[in-house]
Amino acid sequence: MTAHATEIRHLSAHEGETVTLTGWVETTRSHGKVAFAVVRDGTGIVQCVFLKKELPESVWEALGDLTQESAVRVSGTVKPDDRAPGGYELGVSRLDVLSLAEDYPIQPKEHGVDFLLDHRHLWLRSSLQRASLKVRHEVEQAIHDFFYENDFVRIDTPILTGSIGEHAGTLFATDYFGENAYMAQTGQLYVETACPAFRRVYCFGPTFRAEKSKTRRHLTEFWMVEPEVAFADSDDNMRLQEAFVCSIVERALERCQEELEVLERDTSKLEVIRAPFPRISYTEAVEILHGKGSDIQWGEDLGAPDEALITEDHALPVFIYNYPKQAKAFYMKENPQDPRTVLCNDLLAPEGYGEIIGGSQREDDLDRLRERIREENLPEEAYGWYLDLRRYGSFVHSGFGLGVERTVAWITGRHHIREMIPFPRLMNRLTP
Ligand code: 4AD
Ligand code: MG
Repeated sequence: MTAHATEIRHLSAHEGETVTLTGWVETTRSHGKVAFAVVRDGTGIVQCVFLKKELPESVWEALGDLTQESAVRVSGTVKPDDRAPGGYELGVSRLDVLSLAEDYPIQPKEHGVDFLLDHRHLWLRSSLQRASLKVRHEVEQAIHDFFYENDFVRIDTPILTGSIGEHAGTLFATDYFGENAYMAQTGQLYVETACPAFRRVYCFGPTFRAEKSKTRRHLTEFWMVEPEVAFADSDDNMRLQEAFVCSIVERALERCQEELEVLERDTSKLEVIRAPFPRISYTEAVEILHGKGSDIQWGEDLGAPDEALITEDHALPVFIYNYPKQAKAFYMKENPQDPRTVLCNDLLAPEGYGEIIGGSQREDDLDRLRERIREENLPEEAYGWYLDLRRYGSFVHSGFGLGVERTVAWITGRHHIREMIPFPRLMNRLTP
């Protein structure tokens, strides 16, 4: 009988049959006449059982030489087994070693995180990393589906740009044929200009910030999704954020149960996430913080400890809205009710994960925007095209940016966002 080639994810359809799998050996152990190998094929793991008396001598010997992460082809009979990792066992009849691995650096023991990050290209194969990246994959798909279903058009914005998108302090600059170019900190300014073309738009891509901090929440290269909506004000913007975040969480709960289990995520914390989210003005937030012993001064941006103090009282994400102008970027709309502030919001995730979204209504008044660009000492000549949006049919519009890695860290319940991206870029890390 020729064995049916399949993948581990399909084993339940082959109970009692003989199948052939290809994959990598995670572990082996031998008890004299019976031996086990756990094989991973990228779609799951299965325990392979080898019985000495039923196998040719050559197979038994090959098994004895198998090293961790060797590539193999293995055939055998599929048996359900509740105790086996993955729920199935393969009663092996044949083993081909496709490539015998050298001594594998990552052993089933505790390694330091620097060692693991140095071996990130191999660390990706480990179960917690696989689970986190699978959740990331699902979150990214949920993002695209949400905007697709809500009639947004995706606009791919440039990565090399001549205009500073956020702040001059965290720019990666590079020479562009004798001109200064910057790696995009945001796609926002570009995506705004597509509103009059498509009304509802979004961009999704890598963004770059020369963050000289080594916190658990900062990468120098991270992925951001940025929707922008014409004729939407700051309130509409917050409503969109609620619906969007709820849809992502719901999707992860629906499709990533196995991964969240591997990650030991307390999913009851995610099951309660529902709109509406509490809204606290910046000024109220400062009062709350003073009540909790913080010495924050009105006008300062909230730091990570402040955010943690605010969110400790809430199971839901919390909006903080209308920050002081000086704490935020130049493009935010001045608040007509209190010109010291701007019409904006951050969204703080619960459980100490802090800011996952920054958003605002945009300054749509040509003169005020020009003034803000000057106040921030940004080169006005680089913003001619951006100001054109206020010259030719200016309109109320709002948008926001959600950081993918911070969102995935919250959903997976993992501490550090560096594990939420396949190859993290940090202040002190460009390899692998
Ligand atoms: O608050 P930020 O800086 O907002 C913007 O870039 C706007 N242009 C968005 C917009 O309105 N279209 O960044 C948005 C989000 C943050 O809330 C955070 O989740 C993430 O991007 N983020 C980072 N994630 C990882 N590492 C960093 N260094 C990050 N900086 C921001
Ligand atoms: Mg922000």
